[in-house]
Amino acid sequence: MKVRITILCENLIGQATGSGEHGFSAFIETDGGNFLLDTGAGRTVVENSLVLKKDLRTLKKIFISHGHNDHTGGLPQVLNLTGPADVHVHPDIFVDRLAIRKEKGGESRRFAGMIYKRSYLEILGARFILNSDFYEVEKGIFLTGEVPRKTAFEKGDPKLFRAIQGKIVPDTLPDDQSLVLDTDKGLVLIFGCAHSGMINIINHVVQRTKKDHFYAILGGTHLDFLTPEQLEESIRCLKGMKIDRIGVSHCTGFRGASRLQQEFGDRFFYGWVGSSLES
Ligand SMILES: [Fe+2]
Ligand SMILES: [Fe+2]
Repeated sequence: MKVRITILCENLIGQATGSGEHGFSAFIETDGGNFLLDTGAGRTVVENSLVLKKDLRTLKKIFISHGHNDHTGGLPQVLNLTGPADVHVHPDIFVDRLAIRKEKGGESRRFAGMIYKRSYLEILGARFILNSDFYEVEKGIFLTGEVPRKTAFEKGDPKLFRAIQGKIVPDTLPDDQSLVLDTDKGLVLIFGCAHSGMINIINHVVQRTKKDHFYAILGGTHLDFLTPEQLEESIRCLKGMKIDRIGVSHCTGFRGASRLQQEFGDRFFYGWVGSSLES
């Protein structure tokens, strides 16, 4: 399968193309049709699709990596253009979530879950298809479903919580899933935020596909929100893997991206708005 992946929503713009926002979305063109992974936070997905000439009306399916609002906030705008569409998600995307940041003399709380509720999105045409296991959603295109947390050093983001029946508890983000494309040049793996841990996700994909050559890994890796030890351990593991290109975005952040660039040189690129990869 041949694919072209274009970053539609991302924190940064690399050229004078489109707008940035804290969020992520990737437009995926394949021999078997066009797909979207995530929708950004909602302010840039349509504008950037127009500027980058990626027609959202052509989408065959929409995939959602997890329920955070910076990945799901653009769903109404996308559905407005697609009309009724299949939206593949883990059932936990609909829970209420928040980010709690400890600050001097107190804490700040920010709602981090889906702004638009399931029933509203269904009125707009979303046909939610729930999955929590690894499965082939289209020929050569896989969703990882829940990823087993196996590495000792990938501990997750301690700022993230969910609200269950009025109780606020730590959020392990079981809904975090990534997209895998089996392409002519090797596997291409796209993370939303990699809340399950980038290395856990890669290992899970190797185990499930029985393939270990990645032409590229792309997307948000969440490295900027984690400890320096986790960043260094992740880099150490990546160096032992067969990955030709590393094109990170979004929650990788400046520190994570600059360390990856230092280690992987020309194999590294930053996946800002408008950057694309063919495989
Ligand atoms: Fe994110
Ligand atoms: Fe996230």
